[in-house]
Parts: sequence; C-alpha cells; structure tokens
Amino acid sequence: ARAPRGLLAPAALFGSDRVNSQGFDLSDPEVLARIETARTVTLPDAAPIVAGPVSGGSRDVVNPATGAVVARVTEADAATVAVALDAARVWSAPAAERAAVLSRAADLYEENFGPIFAALAREAGKTLGDAISELREAVDFLRYYAAEGTSDTRAPRGPVVAISPWNFPLAIFTGQIAAALMAGNAVLAKPAEQTPVIAALAVRLLHQAGVPATALQLLPGDGPTVGAALTRDPRIKGVVFTGSTETAQIIARAMAAHMAPGTPLIAETGGLNAMVVDSTALPEQAVRDVVASAFRSAGQRCSALRCLYVQEDIAPHVIAMLKGAMDELVLGDPWRLSTDVGPVIDAEAQAGIETYLAQNAGRILHRTAAPAGGHFVAPALLKVTGIADLSHEIFGPVLHLATFAADDLPAVIAAINARGYGLTFGLHSRIDARVETVAETIRAGNIYVNRNQIGAVVGSQPFGGEGLSGTGPKAGGPLYLGRFYAPEPVVATG
Ligand code: NAD
Ligand code: ALA
Repeated sequence: ARAPRGLLAPAALFGSDRVNSQGFDLSDPEVLARIETARTVTLPDAAPIVAGPVSGGSRDVVNPATGAVVARVTEADAATVAVALDAARVWSAPAAERAAVLSRAADLYEENFGPIFAALAREAGKTLGDAISELREAVDFLRYYAAEGTSDTRAPRGPVVAISPWNFPLAIFTGQIAAALMAGNAVLAKPAEQTPVIAALAVRLLHQAGVPATALQLLPGDGPTVGAALTRDPRIKGVVFTGSTETAQIIARAMAAHMAPGTPLIAETGGLNAMVVDSTALPEQAVRDVVASAFRSAGQRCSALRCLYVQEDIAPHVIAMLKGAMDELVLGDPWRLSTDVGPVIDAEAQAGIETYLAQNAGRILHRTAAPAGGHFVAPALLKVTGIADLSHEIFGPVLHLATFAADDLPAVIAAINARGYGLTFGLHSRIDARVETVAETIRAGNIYVNRNQIGAVVGSQPFGGEGLSGTGPKAGGPLYLGRFYAPEPVVATG
C-alpha cells in the first residue's frame, strides 16, 4: 500500500513470501514527471552522521558527466572516527523488530526514488536504467536480509565496519549495512570517496525508518585515513569490504596486526572475467550479451566482461557484428533515457584507462567516439592472444578479444583459471555436454550460460567470487547473514 504510483506490482519469488522490487513503469506520466522534477533538485551536502560531535575538512563532490560541482562533503577526521567508535552500540531490539525497520527502509527507498536517481546520476554518473536497477537491488537486499533474519535468535558480533566502492554506491553500500544490522551489529559505514552524498541519503532513510543512531553511523573520508583507522581498531568484531583486490589485501594485513585472531573479513573484490563463444552460439544473441556485459555501466562493474574468447571459424563474423553494435552505443547525458553508456567515475579513472589504451594502441581493433567534456571514455575492443595478455583489471569500457581453435577449449579454460580470479564467467554454446564440462572446470563464483554475465539478482542469484575475487559467502544468498552473528557457545552440563 505504501508503494508510489507507477511502482510495478511485486511478484512472489520462488514460492516465498518475499518479493523482489519490480522497478518503475517509465510509461507512467506521473513517474516520468517525478523523475523530471528530480533532474533539477539540489543535491544535499554530505557529512559524517555520528552519535556525537562532528569535525573534519571539506571538499567538492563533482558530477563525472560534466565536471560541475554538485555538493560538498565534510570528511571525518580522527576525532570524529573516535567519537563514532566510542558511541557504537549493538542494536538490541528483537530480530522481528529489526526486520520490520529494514523493510520500512526498503519502502522509504522506493518512495524517494526521485532524489535517489538524481544522486546516482549526478554523483556517480549512472544512467537512468542503471539507477533503476541499482535502487531495486538495494531494496532487494533490505527485504531479503530482513526476511532471512526475522526469526533468528543468534547474537550479534559487535561493532562491524562496512567499506564500500563507488560503482554500486547505493546497492552494495546498503547490502553490507542491511546484513550487519539485521544480525544486530553496530555498523560504522565508510563509503567510497567519490559517492558520499548517496551514502548520506541512504543513512538518513535508514534512520528515518527506525535504525538507532548508535547502531548505524556514517564516516565519509579517504580509504587510507578513515578506512585504515577503522580497520586497525581492536574493538571491531568484523569487516565487510567490497572493492579492489589490492585494498582487500591491505585490510586483511591491518586486521591481522590489530584485531583478535579470527575476526571475520568478508571481501568481495575484482575480477578478470571471461566469456567463451563457440561456433554453435547464436551470433546475434552472443553479440548483444557481450555488449551488455562489457560496456553497460561503462564497464564499471566487477562482473563485467574483460576477455572474450571466440571460436576462430565464426570470429570474423562476430567481430564485424560487434564493431557494428559498438557503433550503435549512445554515450552522453546519463539522465537521457536513450543513453546507453555514461561517464567513468572521475578524471583519474579516465586518465588511467586512456593511458592503458595508449600503451596498447597497436592492439586496438575498434574504438567508438566519446562526447567532449566530462569523463567519458569511448568503448574499445582490443585484440589479444589470451587472458594472459591482460596486465590487470581495467575498470572501464575496454574489451579484449582472443580467438581459439575447437581443440584448444580446455587450454582456454586452464588459462582463465590460471589468472587466479574467479568472479563471473560467460559461455555461449548449444552443446549441452560442453556446457556441463566447462561449468565443472571453470573457477568462477557466478557462471552465466547463453546470456549476459552482469546483474545478479538478490535471492535467486547469490553473487560473489573465489580466489583473488573474494572470500565468499555470496551476497544476496542464504549463507551471507550467518557471517554477521557471533559464534554460539556450547554449554555442557555435568
Ligand atoms: P577501492 O579498493 O579503491 O576502494 C574501495 C573502498 O575501500 C573505498 O571506500 C575506499 O575508500 C576504501 N579503501 C581504500 N584504501 C583503504 C585502506 N587502506 N583501508 C581501508 N579502506 C580503504 O575500490 P573502488 O575503486 O572503489 O572500486 C572498484 C573495485 O571494486 C574494482 O576492483 C571492482 O572489481 C571491485 N568491486 C567488486 C565487487 C564484488 O562484488 N566483487 C563489486 C563492486 C566492485
Ligand atoms: N552484482 C553486480 C552484478 O552482478 C555486481 O553485476
């Protein structure tokens, strides 16, 4: 009954009472009018939200599509981090009450879609399509963990640190917090430097829903200062992190040095994700899925396709179609419904990707054009001999392509596994036995067959990798919440 008009009717999922968010009906004039109104709202400034006094320096928050300043953020200094750590208290309300509050927060997120889309577009450069998916995922996390934990009687661990990336500044930020809160922990949330406004908006809605101020505090600021201070405090009983593999390794070392042995670290990290397209694939479908996997969200998804292997006999045809499909991509204003690809997150990201492309200029098979101004990167297709040629995860719209002979498929799979990542993997093939064999041998957390390899759905496609891609358990799956409860004592009587 609280759903705004235009929110599509929810459908039951896999027979459970919980339902996934169904998104927004963009043919509804009222929804479009609210989105149009949100285009012009002034984004609020962001600051630490802690149960005590706040201090710290401030800086501009910049729109990646235009370079314009859209807000200011006050970043937590050491005194504010100390205030938050001292104030943190576990959330002692019964589990069913915590679940009700998180469900209420999900409703509030949906009701506030206008300001949320505005912040996602103007602070993170999200296209409207990506903003809608992201809001739905955040809402799904809230409702999923609420449903999973509502009858759980286990105790929380204590204060938990949640550190999130800019590429899903609402969904991942919310997912981490929702699970930790559902288990009753006190959360100290450290959002990415680039996206403090969205984080502050989310925390205000969670507080409005009823999360106590001492159970959820927000500490915007730099990773190496605020993030580092939080991950070396011995009072912390768990860290949930999503970001690069390198940062996860820094955090793991800090925790080992400063926290009790066995303090859990849930780390969801980067990937060098591959897709194999064999000669039985439908080329049109494969190309459509390759383009979505590699270029949607400007390639700024951990799940994004980085290295495509095409069987050599169909490669010329697939490459020609792929170039044509890349030329059709519309880059530009994220707020325009026709835009396919928005900007990358900031000038540093743009420069890093362009430097990589300049260093690999001899490998470029195709490149489209980017609009002037803002941090846009024109999608690029590079020819490589295999995944071993990729020096590192390029977090942008850059796709590498290799060809393979039919007999070499086992060697291709071995080469992908040898890189040590294990996040997503895609396969386009109509040979059932091959699909089965590859799925058994590939080391990847999420395997997608005859479809794109992005956009895992909470509750039905738990998401997370192995090896250099993460520690597990998978987010949005039944094992995740369990990591946030304290181990249960064993009582033996004589
Ligand atoms: P990042 O590692 O640079 O930053 C992530 C977070 O860590 C930020 O909040 C940052 O401030 C913080 N941080 C940085 N240094 C720190 C330190 N020394 N101590 C504590 N915290 C610190 O990553 P990013 O650039 O924000 O995000 C992109 C990366 O995230 C990519 O590698 C991508 O693949 C990965 N990612 C993974 C998943 C997944 O589910 N596996 C999802 C999204 C993004
Ligand atoms: N969960 C996100 C996806 O699947 C990262 O694309």
